[in-house]
Amino acid sequence: MTDRYGVIGHPIAHSKSPVIHQQFASQTMQELSYEAIDIAPDNLAKKLNTLIDSGVKGLNVTVPHKNAIANLVDELSERAELAGAVNTISIDRHGGVVGDNTDGVGLYRDLTDNLDIQLADRNLLILGAGGATRGIIPVLLDAQPARLCIANRTVQKAVDLAEQFVALGAITPCRFDDLHGLHFDLIINATSAGLTGEVPPFPGSVIDASTVCYDLSYSMTDTPFCIWAQQQGAAETHQGWGMLVEQAAESFLIWHGVRPDTRPVRALLPA
Ligand code: ATR
Repeated sequence: MTDRYGVIGHPIAHSKSPVIHQQFASQTMQELSYEAIDIAPDNLAKKLNTLIDSGVKGLNVTVPHKNAIANLVDELSERAELAGAVNTISIDRHGGVVGDNTDGVGLYRDLTDNLDIQLADRNLLILGAGGATRGIIPVLLDAQPARLCIANRTVQKAVDLAEQFVALGAITPCRFDDLHGLHFDLIINATSAGLTGEVPPFPGSVIDASTVCYDLSYSMTDTPFCIWAQQQGAAETHQGWGMLVEQAAESFLIWHGVRPDTRPVRALLPA
């Protein structure tokens, strides 16, 4: 029987994950099905159990379930536990459910392998202090930056993250207004401001001709953050398409023991 996989979220109709995983499957000669499954938040626990009972082998998890699902699995990987969020579920042959998180490593691979962006000894800034930020802090600290700042509208959340991750390295928490006069080599937008067409209110002066700007969000056209960063004269702007493909490749590796080549799949998506 063909092994079943899928992605759960709400809404999910526009997810690119089925296309990405089917491409990986044909490239690595795996026979599998991968579908987008819409689950409303109220039904999450019940529907997850139904999927597991039906024999599904693995699931990707996306908005808005990444945090809630962490409480519904039997076991969490270390990185999922640190992130407090799960984007990949594996079901073993005894029905045990393991939650993992490949978002951080997906971003790291896109930044370093695909975009050739250096992180060591660089000044890094993350905008936002929610779930998306928690998932990427460990890989960024591990890269030994000169400084990692987290700026958030609600500064206390940035302060809390700095305390939570202190064992992994130093984080400077700040308000958007505190950023005046500072220079950053890489600015990562991890806020959800773009969902309402907004850009986080931080001073444009922190972007100069050597600043790379990366938006974790992605869209068929430029995101508001990328448009704004281009207007401020950023050296480069990138959306999170590459991260999406790389986190999918890491999930694929967990499930099938083989790492697909992401290049042909990235070429199918907007730059
Ligand atoms: P996610 O899981 O996508 O990170 P989240 O945990 O709800 O979602 O976090 C959303 C982040 O986007 C938060 O840092 C939020 O700032 P607050 O903590 O102050 O709420 C940030 N955010 C959302 N809309 C924003 C906006 N219009 N301007 C600036 N920051 C915004």
